[in-house]
Amino acid sequence: MGMTAVITGASGGFGYEFAKLLAGDGYDLVLIARSGDKLKKIAKNFERRYGVAVYVLEKDLSERDAALEVFSFATERDPSSEILINNAGFGDYGSFAEGDYEKLTQMVDLNDRTLMQLTRLFLQPMIAAGKGRILNVASIASFMPGPQMALYYATKAFVLSLTEGLSEELRGTGVTITALCPGPADTGFVKRANMPGARLSDIFRFTKPSGVAKAGYRALMKGRTIKVPGVLNFLASVGVRLLPRRLVRRIVYRFQR
Ligand SMILES: NC(=O)c1ccc[n+]([C@@H]2O[C@H](COP(=O)([O-])OP(=O)(O)OC[C@H]3O[C@@H](n4cnc5c(N)ncnc54)[C@H](OP(=O)(O)O)[C@@H]3O)[C@@H](O)[C@H]2O)c1
Repeated sequence: MGMTAVITGASGGFGYEFAKLLAGDGYDLVLIARSGDKLKKIAKNFERRYGVAVYVLEKDLSERDAALEVFSFATERDPSSEILINNAGFGDYGSFAEGDYEKLTQMVDLNDRTLMQLTRLFLQPMIAAGKGRILNVASIASFMPGPQMALYYATKAFVLSLTEGLSEELRGTGVTITALCPGPADTGFVKRANMPGARLSDIFRFTKPSGVAKAGYRALMKGRTIKVPGVLNFLASVGVRLLPRRLVRRIVYRFQR
């Protein structure tokens, strides 16, 4: 049996690009998203092109026991997955107080609770085996507060903080954990979040998801704790630590209004 990588949110955007890179390197894949049809097409294509096995689980990962289902689906196919990529996530633009409560709750459930559960479930066999790699997709948003997308930014701060903490706990175990912190990229994210994309693109140059995934994949394989792809994003992640917090939140608000 070959090595297996489990990827959430693999039906498009970064997740699809991660899947392509891993399949190209000979990994069998377990792909999860809500769009089963898209996943099945991807599976067929990768199996033919790369000669790997691709297993598909159609699942809404914001559901309460989704992580357990993913874990048992993956371990039935390979008891010791080498790689877990917690990528699925979404944002929602607008006032927190006026936002749809159901949607906001699903965001926390998907971006944080399921990510936390999957990380814990997969870590245990990885530690026992003395090897494994986890990539958590955070964001440049992890480094700052985000008025107009306050909850999304908070969910990504959680991802970065959890990942950094665990990276120290995991020292010496043979298992590594990496937070990937991309800036705005050309995926389905902006549309799903109902963001004013035209204004954002005046400020940022949207990067291609393939480049972001490559940078994340390299950081994962090197066992780096944090990767901020792109020079501007890196400078922003450093800059916000030097500026007064009150100024940072004003600036982000101006960008996002
Ligand atoms: N694009 C950016 O500008 C940007 C920047 C920084 C960080 N990020 C982060 O990058 C990650 C990937 O997003 P993306 O930019 O690639 O956006 P995307 O193109 O919208 O892809 C999101 C992926 O997550 C899946 N997904 C969404 N909700 C789900 C649910 N409830 N259950 C299962 N799967 C679900 C989607 O598949 P289905 O719709 O088929 O379920 C899709 O495969 C997210 O965590 C996002 O927060 C994005």
